Amino acid sequence: MRSNLKSLEKFRTRVWNHYRHKGRHSLPWRKTRDPYAIVVSEIMLQQTQVARVLSFYPKFLAKFPSFGALAKAPRREVVKQWQGLGYNRRAVALHRLADEISRKYKRKLPHTREELEEISGIGPATAGSILAFAFNAPVPFIETNIRRAILHHFFPRARKVSEKEVMELVVQTLPKKNPREWYYALMDYGSMLSTRVKNPNRRHAAYRPQPKFKGSSRELRGTILRERLSHPRLSLRMLSKKLNEKYSRVSKIVAALEREGLLT
Ligand code: ADE
Repeated sequence: MRSNLKSLEKFRTRVWNHYRHKGRHSLPWRKTRDPYAIVVSEIMLQQTQVARVLSFYPKFLAKFPSFGALAKAPRREVVKQWQGLGYNRRAVALHRLADEISRKYKRKLPHTREELEEISGIGPATAGSILAFAFNAPVPFIETNIRRAILHHFFPRARKVSEKEVMELVVQTLPKKNPREWYYALMDYGSMLSTRVKNPNRRHAAYRPQPKFKGSSRELRGTILRERLSHPRLSLRMLSKKLNEKYSRVSKIVAALEREGLLT
């Protein structure tokens, strides 16, 4: 145990003070209590920066306003709306999720961690964030900004801090009263730190630097998906010529995209 009560109290005060003065109070997913709108935001925010999500979120909700509407939409439409957000598999997962919620739960999001974690696209962290933000439940979870805040404050000189150690501090600092607001504040504090200090997440045992996107196979996957959606009749031969990529590489990626349900 590397913390003490005084340090816990100091942390809470810092986080709340930052939130009072500089909190991101007008984020649209913080102004709603609709579990559907909150699920959509949490899936989008999983691997994508707030600024980018802001430019997609309202359009997505306008087009697919509920679990039922999303479940009924064709897969292709959902994937199309997702274009530009990246990590396109999330679009497929969200579409499946809407289908599961519609059929198994009568379009009502379940309230327990166990049920949520069984749903497509929802891991332990997202289950936690959904419970906190949709239902104001005091459940512990970690995402990148939370981890950064904890590492910065409680582990300033440590190395290879484990997720378990971070989780202990999340549990110890989590208030029973209004956990929803606390998590807003904690994420805002961690997000602010990303511009102020050398990334504290480097002190985490599982830290890996972000891979370069330019020239990566993830970039090529995105390009191919976009091409197939807008020119579905272009042959793979023609597509590989257009992209100046080997036919074998392009056809492998297309096959993977089909397997994953992104293309048919
Ligand atoms: N507010 C609610 N959820 C959030 C998230 N995942 N990232 C940033 N702000 C949020």
